[in-house]
Amino acid sequence: MDGGNEHKVSVLFVCLGNICRSPMAEGAFRAAALERGLDCISDSAGTASYHVGSQPDPRAITVASANGIDIAGQSARQIERDDFFRFTHIIALDRANLETLRAKAPRNGNAALAMLMDAVEGRRGEPVADPYYGDLPSFEAAWTTISIGVNAWAERLIRESANIKA
Ligand code: 4NP
Repeated sequence: MDGGNEHKVSVLFVCLGNICRSPMAEGAFRAAALERGLDCISDSAGTASYHVGSQPDPRAITVASANGIDIAGQSARQIERDDFFRFTHIIALDRANLETLRAKAPRNGNAALAMLMDAVEGRRGEPVADPYYGDLPSFEAAWTTISIGVNAWAERLIRESANIKA
């Protein structure tokens, strides 16, 4: 990220493998931000390294595509130390991954850590269940929750960036 962007909102979505939930969140969030004119960098990563370099799970690609979003070009990567300095927000898809992020966070990192559903009134702390061992309906259910979460984050970040500029 170049020096001119240091205050620009930037969001990293994190799940375990970075092939199911966080790629869907990255894709859905990018669309939600674009729709609202929110100027924001977004990316995704996994806390685990099992799938580094892989394309999203075909079921995630199918469900995203059915919702008009192409995530096929994404490639899995693992969270790294620099992410805690490069991103303003790191958003976990479930509690276990939030705990892993907290354990990995450098003391002087500046990213705010949160869970996806924290931005949704009445659903704070709710996890997005891992659909990996499920079937297509499990991915559809994950998409529905993720979509609600990312739209709420887009709204929240618009309000936050208006406060920063004010
Ligand atoms: P994700 O799903 O964390 O949403 O990408 C998973 C992907 C792979 C595995 C577990 C969860 N795995 O055990 O390989």
